[in-house]
Parts: sequence; structure tokens; C-alpha cells
Amino acid sequence: MHTPLEHSLLSAIVDDLATRGWSQQTLFLPDALSRALAAECRRRYAEGELNPAGVGRGAAQEVREAIRGDQIQWLDPGESAPCDQYLGAMDSLRQAINQGLFLGLEDFECHFALYPPGAFYRRHLDRFRDDDRRMVSAVYYLNENWQPADGGQLRMFLAGEQVHDVQPVAGTLVVFLSGDVPHEVLAAGRERLSLTGWFRRRGNDPF
Ligand code: OGA
Ligand code: MN
Repeated sequence: MHTPLEHSLLSAIVDDLATRGWSQQTLFLPDALSRALAAECRRRYAEGELNPAGVGRGAAQEVREAIRGDQIQWLDPGESAPCDQYLGAMDSLRQAINQGLFLGLEDFECHFALYPPGAFYRRHLDRFRDDDRRMVSAVYYLNENWQPADGGQLRMFLAGEQVHDVQPVAGTLVVFLSGDVPHEVLAAGRERLSLTGWFRRRGNDPF
């Protein structure tokens, strides 16, 4: 199944990125697709396919639960229909951003993330000091019936000391410039699922 995205939705995201560096959309994808993605994330977790996320990059990467406690699994094309639909939607967004912002985004890397109850991710930037290929971060949430009291908000630190909290509600997509927006994930009282990814430009790095 193909999931065409409204041109107006894509251009709203591109306009937001151009004017303020971030965008939040509710109902980015159909409910049925969000549910299928959530079921797939839970199944992969139950089958032991998710692993504790690391901090840092390459050989310097290490698991540090005092910084982040989520479990992740990277996506590859061709693994399942729902994942391929998600990757297709994100490729449409990649092209729209390139047309509007000339960022030269070449690819999208993405993982499932599951935060067990109590897990968090301390304040950070998504761009690594030794690798500036990550240009735009995109997080899509998969949690039905999420209440503010459940915690788990994405807290974004914006220009002018503004703070913006995003509830990780199924259907919500948040997109922001990876090098510009420090953010953190607050601890949640229940399991918190998402798909987190980065649009990247070509780098000098041969890997
Ligand atoms: C990340 C991250 C945010 C979120 O994985 O780098 O900041 O809301 N995730 O899950
Ligand atoms: Mn992040």
C-alpha cells in the first residue's frame, strides 16, 4: 500500500523548518499504519531484536544508561510493508525539504526506539562533533491513549530560552534542524515507542 502525503502537509513542514527550525504535525500518517508500526516495534522487542542504545559514534560509542535508557533497532528497506511505507513517506519529506531548502539531503537513517518505564534521554544535540552529516531529525510517535501524566515528553530548547514539550502521541511527527535544537526525553511511567531518524547530506567520511 502506498501512503501519499498531502502536498500541503509537506510544504507546511518545509515552511516551519525555514522560518523557525522545527515543525510538529499531528496525524502525519493514517492510524492503521501507526498501529501496525507499534505492533511491529513491540514484536521486535519481544523477540529480543532491540538493543540498548549507545552514546557517541563509531568506536567511541558506549552504552550509558545514565544518559539514555532506550532500546533501538535500525530499519532497513524490505523488512516489512509498514516499515517500507514509513520509509516511503519520509523519502517524500526528504524530497520536499530538498526542493524548499536546498539542503542536499541524500538519505534517511532511522530506528525503532522503545523506552521502558523510567527510561529517559538527557539533553543533547543530534549532530555529532566529528560527523556533521545529520541535518534534520524526525521523530514519529506510536503511542495510543498517551496522557500528559504519563510523562515521556520530548522537551525542545528553542531560541530565546523558549521550551516546547511534545506529547509522544501516536500520529505526531516532530521535525527539527539537528544542529540547532537541543532536546531531551523525559522519563515516562509507561512504555514509549517511536521511530527516530535523521536526514543526512553527503559527508567526507568514506564510511
Ligand atoms: C533521539 C531523540 C527523541 C524522542 O533518539 O536522539 O532525541 O522524542 N529522541 O524520542
Ligand atoms: Mn535526539
